[in-house]
Amino acid sequence: MQSQVDTDHDAIVASERSRVGARESLALHSYSVRICHWINVIASGYLLVSGIHIFLDFPELYWGHTGYQGFPAVFKLSDWGISWDEAGALGNRMWGRNYHFTFAWVLLINGLVYVIWNIKTGHFRDRMFPRRDELTPTHLGVDVLNHLRWFSSARGSATNYGTLQKVSYLLLIFLFMPLMLLTGLAQSPGFTAAWPWLLDLFGGRQSARTLHSIGTVVFVLFVMVHVLEVLRAGVLNRVRAMITGRFQLPTEET
Ligand code: HEM
Repeated sequence: MQSQVDTDHDAIVASERSRVGARESLALHSYSVRICHWINVIASGYLLVSGIHIFLDFPELYWGHTGYQGFPAVFKLSDWGISWDEAGALGNRMWGRNYHFTFAWVLLINGLVYVIWNIKTGHFRDRMFPRRDELTPTHLGVDVLNHLRWFSSARGSATNYGTLQKVSYLLLIFLFMPLMLLTGLAQSPGFTAAWPWLLDLFGGRQSARTLHSIGTVVFVLFVMVHVLEVLRAGVLNRVRAMITGRFQLPTEET
């Protein structure tokens, strides 16, 4: 027979289990979103590092069609204390070019799979495109203020993307990535021989290279803000959900 002390203890354990252990979870991210997201992270990492290696081999940026050492540049690494020779010694052009072109294909194919798959599944329609009422100035204003205030996610917003988050993902996928691809292709003599309009579009190979480099800086800023937002929203739960697919709903107390 159980004593009163044992009964009280069991009750406490049961209540503690229901508070801590039996938290509700739900399926948040599909297989395609998760697999494509992490392939994209790996490919982007390699593209960034290999791109830096290629840049270091020719550490100046120009505008227009012409560019060579001694030609007026819009950016010179030597202005930042690293000479042409020092930059060349830091970078490995062969390694950079091999990995940059390989992972550009990985990113392109992975991106196409992600976009086509998620148009078909309705992911973009259901979770990524902002609703009309989300685009009103009042709603956008509140969203911006919440971001500036480092507002912690409430239960209601835990499983939906915020409006700014949706807009930034859509700009990244449908505007930024195609522009990075095109400014990359505009630097390839093979592609521009077949598609000379690429050079006209960006005003020359050197302009395309400069825009591609500015895009890289923008991309690094996107990733920094993205990771900060994930940290803010609860890194363990969010990253686990992006790996396993299941998101633990916050308890009423949290
Ligand atoms: C290469 C850099 C990255 C890019 C381009 C990127 C892009 C994206 C995109 C487009 C989404 C929305 C996916 C969808 O629902 O279809 C997303 C979500 C997410 N990403 Fe990234 N990501 C990057 C790096 C990272 C890293 C390093 C982490 C880890 C900290 C991360 C964690 C997440 C999480 C947890 C979500 C879900 C957000 C949420 O539930 O609120 N991402 N990312």
